[in-house]
Amino acid sequence: MNYKNFFETEVQNFKNEGFFRKFLPIKRSRTTFPVTQIQNETRSNKLNNSSKDVKIWCTNDYLNMSHNPDVIDTMISTIKEVGTGSGGTRNISGTTAFHVSLEEKIAQFHKRESAVVFNSAYLANQSTLWTICKKINGIHVFSDELNHASLIQGIKNSGAPCSIFKHNDLDSLENLLKSEDLDAPKIIVFESLYSMDGTITNVSKYVQLAKKYNALTYLDEVHAVGLYGERGSGIANKFGASNEIDIINGTLAKAFGQIGGYVTGDKYIIDFIRSFTPGFIFTTSLMPSVVAACKKSIEIVESADDLRSQILEKASYFKKQLERHNIRYINGDSHIIPIIVKTAERAQFLSKKLLDDFNIYTQPIFYPTVPKGSARLRITITPKHSYTDIDHLVKSLLMLKEEKKIPLIKEEKSKIGAFPQSQYA
Ligand SMILES: Cc1ncc(COP(=O)(O)O)c(C=O)c1O
Repeated sequence: MNYKNFFETEVQNFKNEGFFRKFLPIKRSRTTFPVTQIQNETRSNKLNNSSKDVKIWCTNDYLNMSHNPDVIDTMISTIKEVGTGSGGTRNISGTTAFHVSLEEKIAQFHKRESAVVFNSAYLANQSTLWTICKKINGIHVFSDELNHASLIQGIKNSGAPCSIFKHNDLDSLENLLKSEDLDAPKIIVFESLYSMDGTITNVSKYVQLAKKYNALTYLDEVHAVGLYGERGSGIANKFGASNEIDIINGTLAKAFGQIGGYVTGDKYIIDFIRSFTPGFIFTTSLMPSVVAACKKSIEIVESADDLRSQILEKASYFKKQLERHNIRYINGDSHIIPIIVKTAERAQFLSKKLLDDFNIYTQPIFYPTVPKGSARLRITITPKHSYTDIDHLVKSLLMLKEEKKIPLIKEEKSKIGAFPQSQYA
C-alpha cells in the first residue's frame, strides 16, 4: 500500500468538499477578554509575527472562569505546594486528596451519591458508554441523531446494537423502544443542551419513557452545567429530574473554564465505572493544580446566579436584534445562538469577512461537526460581552446581509437533515 498516497488523497478529497479546517491561533488575555489577539496568516498559510485584536464570539469558556482571579490563585498556590504533574494513573499513586475532594464536590453539586473524574468529558463519554455497553450483555442503545461524537464513539466502539431516534423527538424514541422486548436491557443516550443548535431537552419526559420501557438513562450535560438549574447544577435539575437520571456526564472545561470531565450518579453505578472503565484507569490523572482549580471554580459558579442571568438576558437581547433584522437563527432558549448559512463555503467566507472587516472572531461550523447543508456561525455570549459589543456584532452581520451574503429568511426551528452517525465508524 502507498500510505502517503492514501493520507494525501483523503485530505485532498476533504479539501475538495470544502470541509478542511483551519485552526486559528489566538492569544487570550486575562485583562482584555473578550478582546483577543489573533495571529495574521501569510498567503502560504504560515504564521508571521503580526497580530491584531478581535472580539471572540465563539468561546465555550461561558462564564470566563478561566480568568477568575481566585481560580488562578488556587491553581498557582497548589503548584507551589505539590508541583505540577500528578505522577501516576489514578490506580498507581495518581489519586491525590485533591482528586478525591473534587469528586466529592461534584457529587454534592449534583446532589448525587458519587462521582468520578476523567481527563475530559470526551473521554468520560466514550469510555463509560463503551464499558456499559460491553459489560451488559444484549444491551440495546437508543441515541439521539444529534448526539456528540464522544457519545457516538463510545456506542459504536462497543459494537452494541443502536437505534437512532429523531432529534429531541419523543414519539420517534418511543416507537423504537416499543419494538424491543420490555425485559431486554436498554440505555437511552441524550444531551440536555445540544451545543450546535442551542436547543434544550425536556429531560423529565425522557425519564418517564425510560421508566415505562425499563431503560437506563445516560445524559450529557456538558453545555448546561454551571449555567442552568439551581446553582448551575444542570438542566436535569431544572426539570426536577437529576435524581432520576442513571448517569449524568459533565465537563470542567466549559462553564467552569478548566479541563476535565466527569460522570455522577448512584454509588453502585459509579463504583462500577471506576472499576471497569479503561479511559479512567489507564491514563495519568489530571494535575492536582488543575483539579484544585476545578473545585474552586465549581464553588464560585454555584453562587454566580447574577452571571447566569446576565448571559440569558444578553442572549435574549441579541436574538431580538436578529429577529428585528430578519437574520435567521435557531431559537433554542439558551445562550448558544447558531446563525444558519447552509454551506461550508458560505460559513467560511462569512467568518473570514467578520474577522477581516469587523474584528469579530466566530468560527465557522460545518460537517462533520454538523450535518451537511446546515453550516453555521455559532455565537456564544459571555457576561464579559457588553450590549455595545452585541450591537456591533448585529450591525456587522447586517452589513454582510445587505451584501446578500447571509440568507434573508428566518429559519424555522432546527429542520436539518439526519446526522450521519455512521461517519464515526
Ligand atoms: C456535547 C458534548 N459532550 C462532550 C464534549 C467533550 O467535552 P470536553 O471538551 O470536556 O472533552 C463536548 C465538547 O465540546 C460536547 O460538545
